Amino acid sequence: MTAATSRKDEEQRDLTPAEAKASRKRSFRLLGELISPVKGQFALMALMVVVAQLAVVAGPAIIAWGIDNGIPALMEGNSIPALQAAALHIACALIGGALTFGYVRQSVVVGQRMLLALRRRVFRFTQRQDLEFHERYTSGRIVSRQTSDMEALRELLDAGVNVMVGAFLSMVFTIVLIVAMDPITGLVMLLMLIPCVALTVWFQKRSSVEYRAIRTHSARLIVHFVEAMAGIRAVQAFRKEGRNQKRFDTLASDYRNASLRSIQVFGTYQPLLRVLANVTIAAVLVVGGFRVLSGDLQVGVLVALVLYSRRFFQPVDEIANFYNAFQSAVAALEKIANLLAEQPHVKESATPTPLPASDGQIDFERVSFRYTADGPLVLKPLDLHIPAGQTVALVGQTGAGKSTIAKLISRFYDATDGRVALDGVDLKDLSMQDLTRNIVMVTQEAYLFSGTVADNIALGKPGASREEIEAAARAIGADEFIEKLPYGYDTDVSKRGGRVSAGQRQLISFARAFLADPRVLILDEATSSLDIPSERMVQEGLTKLLGQRTSLIIAHRLTTVMIADRVLVVHGGEVVEDGSPTELVAAGGRFAALYRAWQDSM
Ligand SMILES: Nc1ncnc2c1ncn2[C@@H]1O[C@H](COP(=O)(O)OP(=O)(O)O)[C@@H](O)[C@H]1O
Ligand SMILES: [Mg+2]
Repeated sequence: MTAATSRKDEEQRDLTPAEAKASRKRSFRLLGELISPVKGQFALMALMVVVAQLAVVAGPAIIAWGIDNGIPALMEGNSIPALQAAALHIACALIGGALTFGYVRQSVVVGQRMLLALRRRVFRFTQRQDLEFHERYTSGRIVSRQTSDMEALRELLDAGVNVMVGAFLSMVFTIVLIVAMDPITGLVMLLMLIPCVALTVWFQKRSSVEYRAIRTHSARLIVHFVEAMAGIRAVQAFRKEGRNQKRFDTLASDYRNASLRSIQVFGTYQPLLRVLANVTIAAVLVVGGFRVLSGDLQVGVLVALVLYSRRFFQPVDEIANFYNAFQSAVAALEKIANLLAEQPHVKESATPTPLPASDGQIDFERVSFRYTADGPLVLKPLDLHIPAGQTVALVGQTGAGKSTIAKLISRFYDATDGRVALDGVDLKDLSMQDLTRNIVMVTQEAYLFSGTVADNIALGKPGASREEIEAAARAIGADEFIEKLPYGYDTDVSKRGGRVSAGQRQLISFARAFLADPRVLILDEATSSLDIPSERMVQEGLTKLLGQRTSLIIAHRLTTVMIADRVLVVHGGEVVEDGSPTELVAAGGRFAALYRAWQDSM
């Protein structure tokens, strides 16, 4: 739990002012990158918003003109001004409506286009990151980037431009018109605005606190949920369902409470604002009414002023509400920008050295390694020459550093010091394509993707023919069990009936590796899930799999180790013995002791 807690804290940790500034800068840059391909569409949208708002705002002014000029003319038998006013009003409404439709649609299209680009970018980015990143940045956090953060951005993009530009402009145009039509009413409005602004500031402060709480709780909920489900085997094995459930219940009710608090804040703000708005409208009516009586104001203008003051308040709570969406979107964008700013430790060279045909010679030159900058030295400076075609077994206690050596050869990590080379070329100078074509690692966690058995084997060699796939399975002795599956090679491994055991998964991943036919093959406890008969069966396939290539085998079984040309005994991050199995047995060191223990147990 401590690991999960510290990761969660990393998510919610408060940033130093400098970090916060850098983080904001990153999100602005990302926003710029997102907008840049749709700049033109944005400009078009902004234009439509401005014209639409002008058309809508013109309405009451036209009514005022109609009342003050059209009606007197009508009474004198001239219907033209009244009809003109009506026609103009209809025209404005039509233009306003059409343009509103236009910009709302446009904002959805543009918003979705930006989101699609961002989603794809985040997926590609997270997929490309090295192992170090994935160990640190938990899947729960990645899930919340792709789900709730994207959702927050979508909400903003859907309504955002519309509200931000549309509602804001509507208020500005309205107040400008009010002041222009009658400065006294304008003054009344501005005075009444003072309590409104104070109320809105209070609302924004409170609601942003509550909104942040909602986001924090929702992120915690997602992280806990994803981790509880990803680790479901361990959870059930250790009967931790109760504890997880209790924690989930706590997190879920925290989330509910935060949502309730936020609704309460809004529930206070909105009615108060409505009251203020109506008081203002009443004030405008009273002040204006007296001025009409004294002949300072025309009736039509008063009607327009009342309509305008009503209209003025309409978007306020929309804007206040929008502020929350805006804040979540800003936070979401910041998190995504920070994710995208992660620097992979393992980078592909910009100018890779081509390696058209590899021999499979591996060299470690003064290679040392630590997983984290402040972590312990897991591999002490190591010099190692593995000639092409040699089969090397790595033995040693758990935690000795065997897998670390394997991961350095497949460049899951880069050496902290020194260099690892394939055919004399530093791995860092190879393209990822050359690297993965020539070096393949099979581990204990043989992972199968959803799809058929054949698809899973074919991963080793994209575009492989059915014959090649079946030949690979035959070569390592996996054909027997595959043919017994309900649909043979076409059995879907993610469906009922297609489920395969851990040992069978390993056989499939052997076939995959065989088909890939790399120059260097690494098996990290890859036979550990096989029982003795299966392993014996695989033994032959294994010998074929190892073939002429350079291989590195990490195994606990003597039979597997004894087929190696050379054994390296790893202890405490150092290679302490190096020689052929028979030599090492004769030398009487650690390997000899292991050998005796194995023999005794047999
Ligand atoms: N991802 C990791 N982050 C930090 N330390 C690690 C990581 N993986 C392994 N280690 C540490 O490195 C040491 C060597 O581990 P490893 O190479 O996996 O051992 P082996 O495969 O021989 O059992 C161990 O002390 C282990 O705790
Ligand atoms: Mg290991």
